[in-house]
Amino acid sequence: MIQAARAAGVTQIVCTPHLFHPGFAGIRTDDARSRLAELQPETEIRLILGGEHYLSSDFVQALAEQGRARLHTVCDLFILVEFGPFSQPITTGNILRRLRELGLFPLIAHPERYESGKRLLQWMSALKEQGCLFVVNSRSLMGADGRKCERAARELISHGLIHGVASDAHAPEDLASHYPDCLAWIEREYGSRVAKLLFVVNPWLIAQGRLPVDFADSDQLDRILSQGGCNA
Ligand SMILES: [Fe+2]
Repeated sequence: MIQAARAAGVTQIVCTPHLFHPGFAGIRTDDARSRLAELQPETEIRLILGGEHYLSSDFVQALAEQGRARLHTVCDLFILVEFGPFSQPITTGNILRRLRELGLFPLIAHPERYESGKRLLQWMSALKEQGCLFVVNSRSLMGADGRKCERAARELISHGLIHGVASDAHAPEDLASHYPDCLAWIEREYGSRVAKLLFVVNPWLIAQGRLPVDFADSDQLDRILSQGGCNA
């Protein structure tokens, strides 16, 4: 996976094991941390521990009883979350509001999977108002998860709702094909500034514990680019 990431030009990876997911065995935070510590000396790619939190009843219970204690946040500021297939806007909105009250910014993983058309745009726009951020999958944009997902992912980008593109890599092939193909496609479709925003600047800001730049905030993107840190 690391070799494929290096070949794709990746310089930092936020590792996001499934957490609170009914379909995946949980991983202990200590184990994940020690595994990354073992791997880190073998690569120049910076490895960061995060987690993909499934908004299950277990998650809600852990949040109510233990607050942030069992969450894998990035820089103590961002939390990657995913919804179940039958999630409703009101229920998810309430859980995400609780995360905001705890001072966290929810990063919604693959929003393109949850709805389509106008309903998806309205739902995600409402979550954006709540302070949520959005990451689409390169697989979705490249059509690897079906036409519906592809259309939804492209619509979300066109409406300026997306802050970053993630590989969601479960295997090296995801990094070797969909991710670089998607970068090339975004450059062609939206230009190199948007590609830089979604693939370089915002992921870099998030990994630094800084808020990503909004799609429409061209001035802020210029400021970040002129500081040059994200190219390092
Ligand atoms: Fe996911």
